[in-house]
Amino acid sequence: MKAPGGSDAAKRRAGEHAADTVSDGDVVGLGTGSTAAHAIRALGRAVDAGLDVRGVATSYAARDLAREVGVPLTDLAAVERIDVAIDGADQVSDDLALIKGGGAAHAREKVVDAAADRFVVVADPSKETATLDRPVPVEVLPDARATVRRAVRDHGGTPTLRTAERKDGPVVTDNGNLVLDCAFGPITAPESLATDLATVPGVVAHGLFVGLADAVHVGHADGVRVRT
Ligand code: 5RP
Repeated sequence: MKAPGGSDAAKRRAGEHAADTVSDGDVVGLGTGSTAAHAIRALGRAVDAGLDVRGVATSYAARDLAREVGVPLTDLAAVERIDVAIDGADQVSDDLALIKGGGAAHAREKVVDAAADRFVVVADPSKETATLDRPVPVEVLPDARATVRRAVRDHGGTPTLRTAERKDGPVVTDNGNLVLDCAFGPITAPESLATDLATVPGVVAHGLFVGLADAVHVGHADGVRVRT
């Protein structure tokens, strides 16, 4: 479930600011979503100007954009570590815990972001919150959707199967799975909820990213605030 959109100018400022921190020779995780897309476009311009990087896409959408703007790509399966990942978020708490997965790409995003020496989140101010409270996207094996729904309810959540915008069927992830958006209300203990969700059989990945972000670049009208 997508967070309500913030200003594109703020997203652009955040994305470009984070792209500026990439160094020559870096393997760069390329996040998914409208804010990360600004970073990918900025990297494309930097590559045109001579920067030597290889991108690792977190989704087909990020891969297609990277190809379009000329960022050279390598396979996630071919790299053991990533220098820096730049990725968006649907919510960022005071202690840099995240909810991700508005674009249903969080399974691959988690692999890439966790493998990065430096994981930089890019966001506009609408994503900032004291306590996470948006529904947590949970990617599930299609045949496990009923059992996972029950387990989510047992953990105090209300799961809703994500449907495509045209409402003519469920959203299917790049991995061929389904997404349950799970409302828990205010999440006061994200780490323990993250562990609970991760241990439910049939869950491929959930959108709680706890203890992974190293910095958040928040775009504002008058510049970028970096939170660490
Ligand atoms: C995709 C994500 C995105 O990073 C998140 O939804 C933020 O997107 P946007 O920058 O368009 O607001 O987690 O799975």
